[in-house]
Amino acid sequence: MNVIELAGPSLDALRPASRDVPRPGRGEVLVRLRAASLNFLDVAVATGAYPGPTFPMVPVADGAGEVAELGDGVEHWAVGDRVMPHFLPDWQDGSLTPSTLAARRGVTRPGSLAEYVAVPAASLVAIPDHLSFVEAATLPVAATTAWRAVRSAAIGPHSTVLLLGTGGVSIFALQFAKAHGARVIITSSSDEKLARARTLGADGTINYRQTPDWAAETLRLTAGRGADLVLETGGAETFAQSVGAAGIGGTVFVIGFLTGTQPTIDVIPVMEREIRIQGNHTGPVAALRAAAAAMAAHRLVPVVDRVFEMSDAAAAYAHLAGGKSHFGKIAVNVGA
Ligand SMILES: NC(=O)c1ccc[n+]([C@@H]2O[C@H](COP(=O)([O-])OP(=O)(O)OC[C@H]3O[C@@H](n4cnc5c(N)ncnc54)[C@H](OP(=O)(O)O)[C@@H]3O)[C@@H](O)[C@H]2O)c1
Repeated sequence: MNVIELAGPSLDALRPASRDVPRPGRGEVLVRLRAASLNFLDVAVATGAYPGPTFPMVPVADGAGEVAELGDGVEHWAVGDRVMPHFLPDWQDGSLTPSTLAARRGVTRPGSLAEYVAVPAASLVAIPDHLSFVEAATLPVAATTAWRAVRSAAIGPHSTVLLLGTGGVSIFALQFAKAHGARVIITSSSDEKLARARTLGADGTINYRQTPDWAAETLRLTAGRGADLVLETGGAETFAQSVGAAGIGGTVFVIGFLTGTQPTIDVIPVMEREIRIQGNHTGPVAALRAAAAAMAAHRLVPVVDRVFEMSDAAAAYAHLAGGKSHFGKIAVNVGA
């Protein structure tokens, strides 16, 4: 089968290769992949900033395709079913444990830049009928994370949600927060992207280049109340302001490190406003299933910025790694 291998921790180390089609073991399913989608995580793997991979490897956490063969003992799936294999195949539900993190598609297990992959049947989620393979491939990491963020803070029509930037997770969170009836404020470096976010339902927009104190602007836009949920994607350069933008009892949902991993923060506002700092590691298969169900119920369609061919995977990585030009998700067509 055709694959794209990552030969080492470098964006220049992506190369076409040929590998044997894997055989599904007991409890596994062979999936014929039809699409993949990139996350910032995949760039981190390809630049040596994410621990775990052994090179050469087949990269990219997220994908979607159809069931091609069932291993022994597999029930509930049939050849031809449209499925998404989850990034964390061994974390089905419940609390995170160290053993559930060992298997990570596109990091310690074969990823999605391959025509076929064998995965545990329990790690599959059915693709909502209204989504294409390309759209579905964008869900596992980003939609699961955005879904957990919105659910973590009991968001409803009374809530304000602050989203940082217009990348993959933020745009899913915008869609889910609006589906929960919340008011959404979103930041971006680009007025054009902010205008696009408004068409998706964003109520307040802040250009964080033109308004560097976006925490103060969030307080202004909420009459001093602050946000009930801040989806913290930035890390070093944004964490302190995310805390500053959170209201009393608000949640800062910590997922990202786009600007580095070691912020300096003042603990006083965290204590005084009883702010909840909640970390997140994507989420289990059950959270992906719930996110997919919400997308089906609300007829939400992932925002796909651009679709690349598998032979052009390096360009897809470069588009994401550039960090500034995309809005939502970047996808890759896999196979014929
Ligand atoms: N822990 C978890 O569970 C989890 C899960 C998924 C993702 N993540 C992490 O979350 C982060 C976002 O992931 P993603 O896949 O959504 O990334 P992405 O699609 O690459 O989004 C990046 C966007 O972030 C915005 N951005 C960059 N610097 C910023 C800054 N200083 N302030 C505000 N926004 C800034 C930019 O938006 P504009 O172009 O609009 O300015 C950029 O387009 C990454 O660090 C990723 O590793 C963590």
